[in-house]
Amino acid sequence: MSRPPNRRIVLGVAGGIAAYKAADLVRRLRDRDFEVRVVMTAGAREFVGPLTFQALSSNPVHCELLDEQAEAGMGHIELARWADLVLVAPATAHVMARLAHGLADDLLTTLCLATTAPLVVAPAMNQQMWQANATQANVLTLLDRGVQVLGPGEGDQACGEIGPGRMLEPEEIADRIEARFRGGALTGVDVVVTAGPTREALDPVRFLTNHSTGKMGYAVACAAAQAGARVSLVSGPTALPAPPDVDRVEVTSAEEMHAEVMARAARCDIFIAAAAVADYRPAGIAEQKIKKSDGPAALDLVRTPDIVAAVAAMDNGPFTVGFAAETQSVQTHARDKLERKGLDMIAANRVGLPDRGFASESNALSVLWRDGGCRELALAPKAELARDLIGLVAERYRAEHPA
Ligand code: PMT
Repeated sequence: MSRPPNRRIVLGVAGGIAAYKAADLVRRLRDRDFEVRVVMTAGAREFVGPLTFQALSSNPVHCELLDEQAEAGMGHIELARWADLVLVAPATAHVMARLAHGLADDLLTTLCLATTAPLVVAPAMNQQMWQANATQANVLTLLDRGVQVLGPGEGDQACGEIGPGRMLEPEEIADRIEARFRGGALTGVDVVVTAGPTREALDPVRFLTNHSTGKMGYAVACAAAQAGARVSLVSGPTALPAPPDVDRVEVTSAEEMHAEVMARAARCDIFIAAAAVADYRPAGIAEQKIKKSDGPAALDLVRTPDIVAAVAAMDNGPFTVGFAAETQSVQTHARDKLERKGLDMIAANRVGLPDRGFASESNALSVLWRDGGCRELALAPKAELARDLIGLVAERYRAEHPA
């Protein structure tokens, strides 16, 4: 029977005890009609023999980068081109570090650099190694580049410790790969996202702003693009590079952000307001630098346009998702904002804590929607959380706009 096209997976197996589970993973992927070619690191071969993978995948197993015979058949460039997706499972701390730093010192890491196919990793390691700052920094680097990180799970480990670091079960990995191939939840949908702070000028050298870095909004834009949406990102000043496959429009002030969003809102299906927009701006911008004088100074401030409320008030406007930054009574204030601004959904986060909200690498969200529904998204790296949020937005959007 001929296999459907575009279902070719290179499975990279790295050297950890979970390598034995990769054998089962090959079987589960083939059950789902994927063609699988296995690449093993030297470490992986200490745990499981290539013959096992050859028998299960019905394809030769690839092990060496500099192997005359292999290069004459399917070498690293051919493998990189052949793959519709590269899955590394188990991905050890060492392999993830090499991927994060762009090393190419064996067949697996070289083909990961040489491929244009999406990369998915399923980490497996000791819980302390997973939680080490170096590993977490590498995970964030990979997530920022659009690599999908599946797991790890938590529980008893082969080393006798308990905690996060177990490779997900082969069945779950295969299901999530299958879901990815089935098509993005937002394929064909136009999404506009705002991110970052705004700057409200006082004079030629000073402005009012806030602590937003844009990390949350950029992660949301990236996740929407990965889910198949066409994404415009209207961004205040940040130090972040534009995410892949996202059309970034850079603005400075709330008024500029308002203008750019309103120019796009009528043509988009979903609007997500993750920016920390200034609520007030100075009534006027001094032409010259304001000189200090003795005694207190007073600022005359006026309201900025409420961008998300303006979009939500449009006739036939997009499905509108606001964010809420709260220091207390998160859900109560968020529901109040949802209703007051006429939103379809709101994602509320605590601010003022080191591990969430402004500038942190991680966040947690209480997501509320109009008919009284609510879902808690637990503390996680912003990229991962953004993917869950986009999943939820897609679910609610599809419920209101059945195909
Ligand atoms: O950028 P990071 O460092 O990663 O931090 C992320 C974040 C904390 C900025 C983000 O998760 C977040 O909470 N963004 C919303 C911040 C905010 O301004 O919240 P708010 O509760 O003040 O505003 C409510 C909603 O109204 C937001 O969707 C906001 O974008 C929108 N708004 C506010 C004022 C205004 N003039 N126009 C708006 O559209």
